[in-house]
Amino acid sequence: MCNMDWNEETLKNKLAGKLIGHQVYFFSEIDSTNDEAFNLAAAGSPEGTVVIADSQTKGKGRLQRAWHSPAGSNIYTSVILRPNLKPDRAPQISILAGIAVAEIMNNFCPGMVNLKWPNDVLLKGKKLCGILAQVKTSVNKLDFVVLGIGINININYNQFPQDIKNTATSLAIETGRNISRQELIISLYENLAKWYKKLIADDFSAVKEKWLSMAPMIGKRVQIMSGNEMISGKAIGIDEQGSLVLLTAGDKKIKISAGDATILKEK
Ligand code: BTN
Repeated sequence: MCNMDWNEETLKNKLAGKLIGHQVYFFSEIDSTNDEAFNLAAAGSPEGTVVIADSQTKGKGRLQRAWHSPAGSNIYTSVILRPNLKPDRAPQISILAGIAVAEIMNNFCPGMVNLKWPNDVLLKGKKLCGILAQVKTSVNKLDFVVLGIGINININYNQFPQDIKNTATSLAIETGRNISRQELIISLYENLAKWYKKLIADDFSAVKEKWLSMAPMIGKRVQIMSGNEMISGKAIGIDEQGSLVLLTAGDKKIKISAGDATILKEK
């Protein structure tokens, strides 16, 4: 049992019977909740199983980066999903997760939360949450998705490593108060389930519309670092695979599946 701002028994009771969270694995420290959830899924754990840790020693970010995961302050969780989707639609899961997190965060800081492609949640333009989906596929079939979510809740400015001090933030930094993670975790899973149900009911258009409405980069000139390539153009949308659609020089439409985006200043 961990000594912190959540109680495992209470959380378990409140999540019993829910689509997401009916089975919970808690850790005070783990290498990565994604790795743990991946192993659980590979061993047959059902959809909706979740892993929650108070700290991670090898928290994983996108593009092989590390995710800073100190104890006692943030949310690190991974959710096992088994959607009946073709593998190329897996990025839709990260898209909906961004929306689900952003909606909950917006309750604390109304009007200050938005989304940045591919799936960062920003608060006042700084990174509040990162999402890392890992998939297992077999012959044109998605076996499972591990949806990893890291949200900076009560971490303070001095706890961030130097290289992200100016680009990351937390709910506590922006609201000036400490926030209990327990209720947040419950509402996060509930909201995730709401958007996940829309997706599996084959309504990606609702998900996409919501995402676009929360992404200020749409309609703006952006620069994307994708691998070793720097691409710029006007961001005009996302496609069914979650790729960013850009209008480049000569009005050529291109799609980018992974990278880091920056909004360019208007000339
Ligand atoms: C990103 O780089 O933006 C994605 C970060 C994802 C971090 C979360 S924390 C919970 C889960 N476990 C991990 O090891 N990574 C994800």
